[in-house]
Amino acid sequence: MRPSKDPLLSTQTIEARVGELAGAISRDYEGRELTLVVVLKGAVFFAADLIKRLTVPVRLVFVRARSYQDTESTGRVELTGGPGDEVAGRHVLVVEDILDTGRTCTVLLERLRAAQPATLALCTLLDKPSRRVTPVEADYVGFAIDNLFVVGYGLDFNEEYRDLKAVHLLEE
Ligand code: XMP
Ligand code: MG
Repeated sequence: MRPSKDPLLSTQTIEARVGELAGAISRDYEGRELTLVVVLKGAVFFAADLIKRLTVPVRLVFVRARSYQDTESTGRVELTGGPGDEVAGRHVLVVEDILDTGRTCTVLLERLRAAQPATLALCTLLDKPSRRVTPVEADYVGFAIDNLFVVGYGLDFNEEYRDLKAVHLLEE
């Protein structure tokens, strides 16, 4: 398995869309301080680029989520680190790389809700709506894509290819 030669989403395309998302989020949270809960490891590129374009003040919390082996969702979600006192009473926005079956975000959003944030929303760079197993919708979506396995811009295949600057399909 290796990344496609041509990207599915070029660096320019990603950059432009991240700018639009940052604009929408900055407008929606104007006058408030935002607590971003960044899901490691995949969302780090996206989160960093987003933060650079936000015009509201930001606090950062990281959580680690694991559910994938190779290109298959295991159905189990392990969450480590994060959020307790850091989110209580705050305006919390989860930043994900990709929303697939929805299991990871369902577990994470439940856990965050229990910590009683003032508001809670979800932002994902990529969304595969056709794959959903648990009903979860993002408030901010970068790109909706088909049921394809993608790598790059933080997304990995067994820890490889995160460092690609654009989003590529994973091919035979
Ligand atoms: P669920 O199924 O819980 O999955 O919504 C979300 C997590 O699964 C990983 N994932 C992918 N990683 N390319 C990847 O590199 C993909 O196409 C892909 N689809 C799902 C990802 O870690 C995400 O947080
Ligand atoms: Mg992953």
